[in-house]
Amino acid sequence: MITVKDLRKVYKLGSEKVIALDDINVTIYTGEVCCILGTSGSGKSTLLNMLAGLERPTRGQVLIGKRDIARMDEASLAKFRQKYVGFVFQSYNLMSSLTALENVSMPLMFKGVGKGVRNKAARQMLKSVGLGNRCDHKPTQMSGGQQQRVGIARAFVSKPRIVFADEPTGNLDTKTTIEVMQLMVQMARENDQTLVIVTHDPEIAEYADRVIHLIDGKIVSDISRGPGMDHLVLEGQFSNQETVHHTEESPPEEPLILEEDDPDVEEELRLEPEGGELPAGSTGGKVEP
Ligand SMILES: Nc1ncnc2c1ncn2[C@@H]1O[C@H](COP(=O)(O)OP(=O)(O)OP(=O)(O)O)[C@@H](O)[C@H]1O
Ligand SMILES: [Mg+2]
Repeated sequence: MITVKDLRKVYKLGSEKVIALDDINVTIYTGEVCCILGTSGSGKSTLLNMLAGLERPTRGQVLIGKRDIARMDEASLAKFRQKYVGFVFQSYNLMSSLTALENVSMPLMFKGVGKGVRNKAARQMLKSVGLGNRCDHKPTQMSGGQQQRVGIARAFVSKPRIVFADEPTGNLDTKTTIEVMQLMVQMARENDQTLVIVTHDPEIAEYADRVIHLIDGKIVSDISRGPGMDHLVLEGQFSNQETVHHTEESPPEEPLILEEDDPDVEEELRLEPEGGELPAGSTGGKVEP
């Protein structure tokens, strides 16, 4: 479960302030396929980056299970991401000197998986996204849509507990978009992964259990349909301060990360930022000016 509390992100450019996220409160449940929908500049990527611990909030909390990742130090955060998170970047972020196969097998390498096994898994993933014949191509030797699919294969290959995808079909044609969306949702369901997809396209949102609509850094609606339900069942009315409603069919509120069954991670996740525990009520991140 991912719980976001009073999350705020303010960018400062000279004397100008941009409020990219304006006190967001939301809970995303384990196993949910959740879509963050909004127009360009509404704060989608900013929110996704905060959820994945790629950027620090100005203030507020991002709880994964019980751990506030906004307060983890860089080293713990890096380990946490490596172990639990897959990310599809809006701009692909592939390593240009590596082949598609090498890019996709990278997360497995970081996990210490042997070369034979990781190459086999990476090849299989590339085949799943329709790139079985592009394993040895480097990013510059592939189209934008092909690079995007390599990015998707890389995000899923290590079966992380959560996959965050920023406009994962932004460069794909309609047919490939449908195939890739079906594939991502299918993989997420099979592996009981939480999938959070950012898009500006309401048609992509059709694939999700839940659609969170952002305008100007605020959640303006949150529409859920429980797994297995055919129609949308709830449309919440949200003020800036309200917490998000959810249907009764929501998956149970299990902590996403059960540190207890993984002593290694328990250790990692208990690490405090350098300088020790922050005082109660501290923002834990940068303080908004
Ligand atoms: N590093 C930054 N410095 C200053 N302002 C930023 C920065 N990153 C984002 N912003 C601003 O924050 C707001 C939200 O940006 P964000 O990238 O989250 O939008 P988005 O919804 O992902 O848009 P798009 O659909 O175009 O990707 C925008 O107004 C943007 O200009
Ligand atoms: Mg974006």
